[in-house]
Amino acid sequence: MFERVETIIRKLVEEVDFPQATQLFSKLSGGKRLRARLIMTIAPTHPDAPRLGAIAELIHAASLLHDDVIDEAMLRRGVESVNATHGSKVAIMLGDILYSKAFSALSAFDPEIARTISQSVTQLSVGEMMDVEMSGAFNLDRELYLKMLYLKTATLIESCAYCAALLEGKDANAYGVYGKNLGLAFQIVDDILDIIGDEAILGKPALNDFVEGKTTLPYIDLHDSLDDAGREKLIGCHGRVLEPQEKQWLFDAMQEHNVIERSYARAQELCDEALSVIGDEAALRAILTSVIQRSH
Ligand code: IPE
Ligand code: IPE
Ligand code: MG
Ligand code: MG
Ligand code: MG
Repeated sequence: MFERVETIIRKLVEEVDFPQATQLFSKLSGGKRLRARLIMTIAPTHPDAPRLGAIAELIHAASLLHDDVIDEAMLRRGVESVNATHGSKVAIMLGDILYSKAFSALSAFDPEIARTISQSVTQLSVGEMMDVEMSGAFNLDRELYLKMLYLKTATLIESCAYCAALLEGKDANAYGVYGKNLGLAFQIVDDILDIIGDEAILGKPALNDFVEGKTTLPYIDLHDSLDDAGREKLIGCHGRVLEPQEKQWLFDAMQEHNVIERSYARAQELCDEALSVIGDEAALRAILTSVIQRSH
């Protein structure tokens, strides 16, 4: 069944009928396929579920192409990013091709599904814009951080869950809430992995967020735990490449104040909330567990 998703992804890209797009896209193959897996898990019997999963993965791939331009990231899914090998212009245009191809395929679906998924892409883009705007200064506002996470990452995952439930005739609102909490936990763990992850395993740059000015949850918690001198030092490290001894100070301070454990605990709370709305469905519990335990 999952092979079907991969086949449709390849077919949609081939339909663009532009060999350079097919060739560049092949670099982007792989990934964890979380969004497609979610759709296939919630709507395992519906014949259109693989197609919706493929569309969600094309949208996600487009967002990564643009995200790597925005974050000036040179590594993606274990290989050099498209912006690294072909420049930002090509990465942006390939992203546009994938987005528009996904939307035209989406237009064949029920209007509520087409509207829900496309609206989530607007929200994703607003979230990416907020992320960049917020990176200009050290953000101390947890609520604002969570709002931005919701927009840039959780809305697409929420709408995938919602639409899969619609297809399968399940309670779409409940699955939407599950997807929202899953998406928030997913991005909190992504932000943790940026700090503790190994670049070779992540397949994307590590410790890039703070350099890019992104004050993710562990940094907010650390700021709140430090004394005045520590806070000053932390803010002084924000938004620039760090010296090895500054990195060491940062890791030591994070360890001393248990900020990674605290962020994991927040992600776990969101997973517990996710499960509480849909009941204890083993396959959906397994997705939550994989999100918390992942190393990439
Ligand atoms: C990365 O998403 C971008 C975020 C929303 C955190 P994934 O971690 O799902 O990326 P792939 O598809 O597995 O590469
Ligand atoms: C991006 O968040 C989320 C998207 C909507 C693409 P990140 O910038 O943290 O994603 P990664 O870490 O580069 O995959
Ligand atoms: Mg990024
Ligand atoms: Mg980003
Ligand atoms: Mg990240």
